[in-house]
Amino acid sequence: MNRITIAVDGYSSCGKSTIAKDLAKTLKYTYIDSGAMYRAVTLYALEHNLFEGDYPNETVLKKQINQIHIDFRYNAATGKSDTFLNGENVEKEIRSMEVAGKVSPVAAIGFVREALVRQQQEMGKNKGIVMDGRDIGTVVFPDAELKIFVTARPEVRAHRRLAELAAKGENATFEEVLDNLTKRDLIDSTRKDGPLRQAEDAVVIDNSDLTVEEQNAIILKLFRDVK
Ligand code: DC
Repeated sequence: MNRITIAVDGYSSCGKSTIAKDLAKTLKYTYIDSGAMYRAVTLYALEHNLFEGDYPNETVLKKQINQIHIDFRYNAATGKSDTFLNGENVEKEIRSMEVAGKVSPVAAIGFVREALVRQQQEMGKNKGIVMDGRDIGTVVFPDAELKIFVTARPEVRAHRRLAELAAKGENATFEEVLDNLTKRDLIDSTRKDGPLRQAEDAVVIDNSDLTVEEQNAIILKLFRDVK
């Protein structure tokens, strides 16, 4: 059976990564979290004091973009892949509220997107990949055989993100989290390069009132229907 390319796009905190990870595990495909790559570039910019207020200094970042190496390595202890930035495990740091609050302006920069899209296309060149993000079905893999666009009500998404942060011992209020994801969605969907947009041939799933099991069953059926 030929392996295919699967693109999972959608709004912040609507469960894209749960869908993509579960599907990749079931199919024995590679899973790539493209958002982690934008977060890693943001962490790099923070660590190198490149931020001036809410925006990074683009001139300096552009000069350094080729020195930013991101890869994913399997962690046998957690059974998941961790994100590495220039050889250092940054999986925890890239999920912080600080990075979440700064990532959208970084992800809106054309040369950052160009560099990361190129790497993502390279990662998917042999197919057998599930990648989640915002522009996977539209820009990274426009020819993906299966495209899923995930959405959920903003309040549902804020509750999910809050629970995720709490599980990691990070404190945030519901209002802060809701505000962060609403702002990110606005920046992500209105930027010039690779905006968050549903591909014409994507299947939309609103999972506000679905359990993970119900959602996985729907998606597995979509996969089988492609073949
Ligand atoms: O999926 P996430 O929340 O980890 O993504 C972090 C940010 O990166 C998000 O604000 C949008 C951006 N992003 C993007 O612009 N393009 C992608 N393919 C993935 C994420």
